[in-house]
Amino acid sequence: MNLKVVILAAGKGTRMRSNLPKVLHKLAHKSLVEHVINTAQQLSPDQIVVVYGHGGEIVPQTLNHLDVEWAEQAEQLGTGHAVEQGMVNIQKDGMVLVLYGDVPLTSIDTLRQLLKVGSKNKCMGLLTAVLPDPMGYGRIVRGSSGIVQKIVEQKDASETQKEIQEINSGILCANSQKLREWLSKLENQNAQGEFYLTDVIEMAVNDGITVETVSATDHWEIDGVNNKRQLADLERQYQRNIANNLMDNGVMLRDPSRIDIRGNLQTGQDVEIDINVIFEGNVSLGNNVNIGANCSLKDAKIGDNVDILPNSIVDNAIIGNQCDIGPFARIRPGTCLADNVKIGNFVEVKKSTIAQGSKVNHLSYIGDTNMGKDVNIGAGTITCNYDGANKSVTEIGDNVFVGSNSQLVAPVKIADGATIGAGSTITKDVLSAELTLSRAKQTTISSWTRPVKKPK
Ligand code: UD1
Ligand code: CA
Repeated sequence: MNLKVVILAAGKGTRMRSNLPKVLHKLAHKSLVEHVINTAQQLSPDQIVVVYGHGGEIVPQTLNHLDVEWAEQAEQLGTGHAVEQGMVNIQKDGMVLVLYGDVPLTSIDTLRQLLKVGSKNKCMGLLTAVLPDPMGYGRIVRGSSGIVQKIVEQKDASETQKEIQEINSGILCANSQKLREWLSKLENQNAQGEFYLTDVIEMAVNDGITVETVSATDHWEIDGVNNKRQLADLERQYQRNIANNLMDNGVMLRDPSRIDIRGNLQTGQDVEIDINVIFEGNVSLGNNVNIGANCSLKDAKIGDNVDILPNSIVDNAIIGNQCDIGPFARIRPGTCLADNVKIGNFVEVKKSTIAQGSKVNHLSYIGDTNMGKDVNIGAGTITCNYDGANKSVTEIGDNVFVGSNSQLVAPVKIADGATIGAGSTITKDVLSAELTLSRAKQTTISSWTRPVKKPK
């Protein structure tokens, strides 16, 4: 099919009470209109035109990474006028699908169904819904045989028309040449003084076109965002939909209403996720992964049989198989952990590689470090990677043992098999597999007494 998509995104969204144009508000860390664009892209159209207006160039500027065309609607004269502006960019004949930048959750299946009925001979497609409370929406007026005749807007509807519960979602598809023709004939003699896209329906009927409807079964597919409450409601709905997909794929969620996915999450078999976990960007979890409560994972690749204990943060990192992380661990960008690595509580790791079987179990900072395998880093060890101006690297060989509360002042190298005594400050390379320490000798001052409180 020769498909073009026009996305309306010119409205101000006064009720958002924000300086940001409505369509740039975010749902799951992605702007509303970007959700719509991404859905449109899945239909592989040969053109996507986004009509922007309110807020001026901010919308195209913010979204300049997207492969779409932009059409300006300088004045918001109505939905019909908006589509007409978008049509300027459309050259060839074909099918036009109209979507709304503030209706982010329409499913691809529903749109495919709509395109299917709309592309039948002498037909156009209209997405409707039957709502218990149709207040505010345009109503679908059908003739006695059930055939769609026109749409009346709430503000133009008679009392009997207001009783109609079938409403217009606004989403429709039609032949581009016909649509262009109808749009050019629109008038604005109505309650709002606007050029209504909805008036096209009656024109189509008069032209012998049958308006085929698809009814959205879930209302959130056609729900728009007009205020922050509706945005929050749709965010919850979006999250619930993803949670349902995860569970359908076998993921065990302790509570599907307490997980947030702001990006893409790939999961293996037998994954368990406790409450209040946030996933951002692209995260993949291997098989048999357990994520504890209150963890945050962003752009991370987690291997098989990994346990991430509660309150841990993983950001831009790769974690191998059989690793144990946390609780309260922070794995920062550029970190790569091989298999069987253990990172314990209150440990921060930044831009470091840690080879197989090594352990940093308690209260440490490991930054800009290359660590070999089977290393044991004692509690409270710090790699001093920053001299106030520059960062330097710490190299730790295989099978090294670093005693607790040691500082490794980079740049520094610790040879394979070396042992560092507890409480050492290592400023020079340790080049042999022996015991190295740097600490004052223990002495006892026998005549020393504890201070006593002075009388007041
Ligand atoms: C529109 C429909 C109504 C439908 C409802 C569904 C018309 C006349 N009415 O009403 O039948 O039930 O949507 O939510 O189409 N926009 C522009 N430029 C404009 C005007 C609007 O880009 O000049 C965009 C808005 O940013 C918004 C969308 O079009 O994304 C809908 O506009 P809105 O004013 O909210 O239409 P409704 O009155 O809700
Ligand atoms: Ca609206």
